[in-house]
Amino acid sequence: MKKTTDTKTVVGRIDADVLAFTVGKDPVLDLDLVAWDCYGSAAHVTMLSRMPHKPRLFSAAERDAVVAALAAIAAEAAAGRFAITAADQDCHLAIERTLTEKLGDLGRRVHTGRSRNDQVATALRLYLRDQLLGSMDEMTALAEALLKFAKRHARLPMVGRTHLQPAMPSSVGLWASSYAEGLLDDLGVVRAAYDFADRCPLGSAASYGVPLPTDRAFLAEALGFREPIHNVLHAGNSRGKTESVAVSALCQPMLTLSRLAEDLILFTMPEFDYFAIPREFCTGSSIMPQKYNPDVCELIRAKAAKVVGLSTGVATLLKAMPGGYNRDLQDTKEMLMEALATTRASLRIMTRLVGGLVPVPEKLRAAFAPGVFATDRALELVAGGMAFRDAYHQVRDHLDELAAMDPDAAVAAKTHLGATAGLDFAMYAAWLRHERQTTNADRRRADRAFAKLMKPIAD
Ligand code: ARG
Repeated sequence: MKKTTDTKTVVGRIDADVLAFTVGKDPVLDLDLVAWDCYGSAAHVTMLSRMPHKPRLFSAAERDAVVAALAAIAAEAAAGRFAITAADQDCHLAIERTLTEKLGDLGRRVHTGRSRNDQVATALRLYLRDQLLGSMDEMTALAEALLKFAKRHARLPMVGRTHLQPAMPSSVGLWASSYAEGLLDDLGVVRAAYDFADRCPLGSAASYGVPLPTDRAFLAEALGFREPIHNVLHAGNSRGKTESVAVSALCQPMLTLSRLAEDLILFTMPEFDYFAIPREFCTGSSIMPQKYNPDVCELIRAKAAKVVGLSTGVATLLKAMPGGYNRDLQDTKEMLMEALATTRASLRIMTRLVGGLVPVPEKLRAAFAPGVFATDRALELVAGGMAFRDAYHQVRDHLDELAAMDPDAAVAAKTHLGATAGLDFAMYAAWLRHERQTTNADRRRADRAFAKLMKPIAD
């Protein structure tokens, strides 16, 4: 191999091409991890300052100086003024370099007893916790928008379909709240991914521990994690797995959104015209002046495909990767970040679209051909004493004589739990409240831990 010039990095000289290839997009992607890595580093240095080690690895004053410098770095990153170079490789070495520039020898002692492997795993879990809380809030907001629409048009008749064929009387309330409840169900899956991420890998070092009395329980508590991951090798191996669990969880709201988008594309076609999407949510054609296209909904279908693809991508990367850290893991970062950004953007735009959705009552009622009432009619015959199968055949044999019934009456007649006239909107409101309280409590727990962590300890 013809050698290109070497580049000097924090960890030695590396061939420039090799450096560029191995660093990949980390200098850009890692900008989103800087603040989280600063918290992880603050916890690590605080733990070192409390370690029963003679002489002390960090005095309280030295610890405070490092934590103050970390806070300054996080603030620079938030203001878009922190740069990661290719020679830094990633945010972890960029932060160590900056600490050394600011604090000299103190900065050179920060990496005592840790590895970039537990460092990056910790930063990613902190980032992921925050992102998943944001995703859950956005899922709750969309569920709320759907429920508001459902409640406003609770008894507005809408043909219920199976195989896309007209099936039975239904309502706009039933249709819209079905997607709301779907999202609330999906939220449970995303919360499971949050709980999966909420254990602390820090202190596992390169997955094999260190011959120092590392206080892993302290590290977990300092960062607001539920508990430390017990086995240090598992702590390392759970990188990638945590991402896989998260991205596959995000597939669930995307699958729900994609079906909602498909329904909207269909039911806003001129041939149906059940709903109108606000004009500003549609795009026109460069040639056909009459066009208003439901591009947002179409792209949501595409984004769902993308997130499912990313989920497969992360899982495929992990399959048969040997235990312990492997650089392959670096490539799960971009897939995770893209899945989160895509899902969250889709949730936000759909929430706005649903907020502007307008039903067209005449069109919704006009779609009730007599056949839609066939099952209700058969059940009327059952009420008169006929066996259901006989009633079924009687109606089926005389479909052309089937009289249209009143759609509004048909909607009002289904009063049992969860049917068109049995929807419990108070239960849904309580469910939304519960989800909000839970995410707020999780966020407060983390914020309290970070506020405590960043305070000086020397007197
Ligand atoms: N940027 C790297 C990653 O994302 C950091 C860990 C590098 N560790 C190592 N042993 N080379 O995986």
